[in-house]
This record gives sequence, structure tokens and C-alpha cells, in this order.
Amino acid sequence: MAKLELSGIRKSFGTTEVLKGIDLTVQDGEFVAFVGPSGCGKSTLLRLICGLDEITAGQMAIDGEIVNDVPPAKRGIAMVFQSYALYPHMSVADNMGYALWLAGTPKAEIRARVEIAAKVLRIESYLDRKPRQLSGGQRQRVAIGRAIVREPRIFLFDEPLSNLDASLRVEMRIEIARMKERLGTTMVYVTHDQVEAMTLADKIVVLNAGKVEQVGSPLDLYNKPTNRFVAGFIGSPRMNFLPLGAGVGDQRFAIPGGSVRVPPDLAAKPSEIGIRPERRYVPDRYRRDPADLRSPGGQALRAYPN
Ligand SMILES: Nc1ncnc2c1ncn2[C@@H]1O[C@H](COP(=O)(O)OP(=O)(O)OP(=O)(O)O)[C@@H](O)[C@H]1O
Ligand SMILES: [Mg+2]
Repeated sequence: MAKLELSGIRKSFGTTEVLKGIDLTVQDGEFVAFVGPSGCGKSTLLRLICGLDEITAGQMAIDGEIVNDVPPAKRGIAMVFQSYALYPHMSVADNMGYALWLAGTPKAEIRARVEIAAKVLRIESYLDRKPRQLSGGQRQRVAIGRAIVREPRIFLFDEPLSNLDASLRVEMRIEIARMKERLGTTMVYVTHDQVEAMTLADKIVVLNAGKVEQVGSPLDLYNKPTNRFVAGFIGSPRMNFLPLGAGVGDQRFAIPGGSVRVPPDLAAKPSEIGIRPERRYVPDRYRRDPADLRSPGGQALRAYPN
């Protein structure tokens, strides 16, 4: 178990700056999900945390100790990748115990730790098989098991379930939730799947173009997004945005199934108002298009001065 602290983390490849100053604390035992558009820097940040890449600027500490220059094997971090990365010629048990074997751990201890991890992930009966004799979901369990046997201080997951079909993903999501309960280890989890992030994470970090847009509990991000990007990114289907001209603050607009009041502080400048589709009841006869927010009479939106 460990607390992870990132301050002012920057990463450049050549002249391109990919991470532009990341400040973030992951508490001991916390499950934190990174979400954000493709290319925003999620995998890069994970690689910096586990030490596969070097930090360009900033500081990273685990339990208060600065680890910028500590080699990956000494950080006590285990990473699980999307592409299981198992050794095809080794049995499941050997794949899982390999890192311990490299570290010179006695055979009996390796076997014991492999068996415990196999039990957590319910793959005890596959220990003698080769990876090719397993389904995708079973292979990913082995990859996760390989991380568990190392008894890391922190687990990192980079989209571990995205190669699996929808039903297996649901099953594995439950498996990961169980693992979180049983082990209580600090976990950082990158995903494109909002349901995964919302259901598994204690805290979600929304990244965009190398910066943190917002950090919060799943419900905080959903209910109180602090900016337009987070409002539009979190939620599926996405939030509708209505452009508002200057001077419409503190007025009420009719929309199908109800009305919305524009907050008074939006009066001065042109802005937008966001409405979550699921918050509105739209009678079927008006539901032509999910984004169709015309009023019940079919007219354009009407403004009602207070
Ligand atoms: N080794 C590298 N050399 C140069 N540019 C890189 C390198 N690795 C990543 N990048 C660039 O850094 C940016 C962030 O990449 P990264 O893989 O972290 O994105 P990501 O958020 O994980 O995206 P995805 O959701 O598609 O996995 C991208 O623009 C990518 O092209
Ligand atoms: Mg990635």
C-alpha cells in the first residue's frame, strides 16, 4: 500500500510537450481512474509512474520518498497492459511466478504466492495450461495475477479490458472490483469506458491535452463539472449544449418535458447552457432526435422574462 504524489510533472518527446504540469495525489488504498480523449497523455503518465519513461520535469514521490531516479524494478509498482504480454511458451503458473523467479525467490514461496493470486482471480484450474489454451478473459486474469504475485505497493492498469468483448468486460469489471476489496492496494486505472471508471473508481481524473481538467468522485464530476470540457466529456449520451446570447440570464426557457432557468450570473456575456439528456422527459411524439430540444409546440425555444 502506498500514497502516490505527483507535482508539476512534465514530459516532452523532442520538442513536443505531451504532459504539461500534472499535480495529483493518489491516497493509500485509493482506486483512481484516468479518463480523457485519445492522445491526451494517459499512457504516458502511467509509464512515467512505473518508471518505463523518464520524467522531463517535476517530482514524483511514493510514501514521501522521491522516486524520480529509482529504477522501475525498485519502485514496487506492477503494471498490467491491454495486450496481456504473456510468455507463450510458459505455463500460466510460470508466467505468474516469473518475476519472483528472476528475483531469486525460493520455489516453494513462488508456488504459494501464485496459488494465492490464482485463487483471488479464480484461475486455479488453469495453472498448468499455456496462454494459447485460454480465452481472452482468462489471459487477462493471468496478466493481472502476474502483477498480484509481486505484491506491489501500487497497481497500474492501462485499459486492461479493452480487448475483451462486452460481456467479458462486465465479468472482469466485477473481478477487478473484488480484487480491489480483497487487496486494498493503491490502484491507477486508465480506461476509455466511462461505466468502468464510474463504477470502479473512488476518484476520477479527467485529462485533456496533457493537463488535468478536474479531479473528483464519479458523482462530483457528473453533477458538478467545473468546466465545459468535463461537462461534455463525462456522461453518455453526452450533455446537450444550447448557445445563449448575452442578456438572457435569469430567464426561463421551455424545453420538451419542462423548462430550464438560466442562472442570473450568465446575463452579461454570450454563453452556453448544458442539459443532460437523461434529466429531461421528452414525450415520444416529440422525440425525433435525442438532441432535439424544441419545445412541445414545435416552436423554437422561447424565453420567458421573469
Ligand atoms: N515515444 C513517443 N515519442 C513521441 N511521441 C509520443 C511517444 N509516446 C507518446 N507520444 C505522444 O504523446 C501523446 C500522448 O500519448 P499517450 O499514449 O499517452 O496517449 P493516451 O492518452 O494514452 O491515448 P490513448 O487513449 O489513445 O491510449 C500522443 O500525442 C502521442 O503521439
Ligand atoms: Mg493509452
